[in-house]
Amino acid sequence: MPRLAVMTSGGDSPGMNAAIRAFTRAGLARGHEILGIRDGYTGLIGGDFHPLGARQVGGIINRGGTILGTTRCDALRTQRGLVAACKSIRDHHINGLVVIGGNGSQAGAEALGRHGVPVIGVASTIDNDLTGAEPSIGVMTALDVAVEAIDRIRTTAMAFRRAFLIEVMGRQSGYLALIAGIAGGAELIVLPEHELTPSDVLVRLHTLHEQRRAHAIVVVAEGSAWNADRLDAYFKAQKSVEIFETRVTKLGHVQRGGAPGVYDRILATRLGVAAVDAFERGQMNVMLGMTGGAICATELCEVVRAKKPFPEHLLAMAKTLAQ
Ligand code: F6P
Repeated sequence: MPRLAVMTSGGDSPGMNAAIRAFTRAGLARGHEILGIRDGYTGLIGGDFHPLGARQVGGIINRGGTILGTTRCDALRTQRGLVAACKSIRDHHINGLVVIGGNGSQAGAEALGRHGVPVIGVASTIDNDLTGAEPSIGVMTALDVAVEAIDRIRTTAMAFRRAFLIEVMGRQSGYLALIAGIAGGAELIVLPEHELTPSDVLVRLHTLHEQRRAHAIVVVAEGSAWNADRLDAYFKAQKSVEIFETRVTKLGHVQRGGAPGVYDRILATRLGVAAVDAFERGQMNVMLGMTGGAICATELCEVVRAKKPFPEHLLAMAKTLAQ
């Protein structure tokens, strides 16, 4: 009986559990044995494998986080760690490994693939920065959370005539900030892909004030050089309080936690089943993701090599609309 293993790795994202459930149940239905690996690459290196049955993945489609646990594992970046991971796969007689995760996790999968491990990646990160996935698992839920927060903050901002700096996740990617900013009607969006100086932001606040706007929402990506705290410190030093009093809200891990929305449950379920299909076709060293509304496979080396283009047209649109 073919033996397939599944793990989650890196930052969790809402929908990972739905993918584990779908992969496990589809695999079992086709006569495969399914093992779950705990705590990502750390568990792979340490041999932390456990059989997964249909009932063990029951009641998790609606749960955030990951029942398998996750880590950011530096050891896999070393030759020693990589060799240990490959040995662990051989020792446990694994015929195929599924890695559910984002950029760093897919880079690990690619390295394993180069060392002979039959591996399939599943695109899962709220950052939406993976080539070959539009969107990846968790993005839509994270955006819903961020936009709900922006809507709520706007009402209190209006009450006090304040400017809010709302920081959203994305260490290297401004995607969440851009889309949440557009959907939340932000007056300004600050992104690592298009850095603004703090004086650019202040000029914008002055313009809004001159237009007699009663409040302002500035959505800031966590990875911007001028993040929310730095911008706020600058404004205070410039006595911007004379135009708007400022407040900072960092949404942080609130965006990553909690129940996945319908879109992510269905996307994750489709990708989990597609991973079983891919192994049965003998496909390996690819990452599965949604592209143009269909599930597509992208070579892992391409996922690792190619930087996902930033949606410039959406930023241009955001600027036009935030007048
Ligand atoms: O998983 C991606 C991400 O959520 C980034 O947006 C964020 O910068 C980072 O993870 C936070 O990582 P950690 O949970 O390890 O602090």
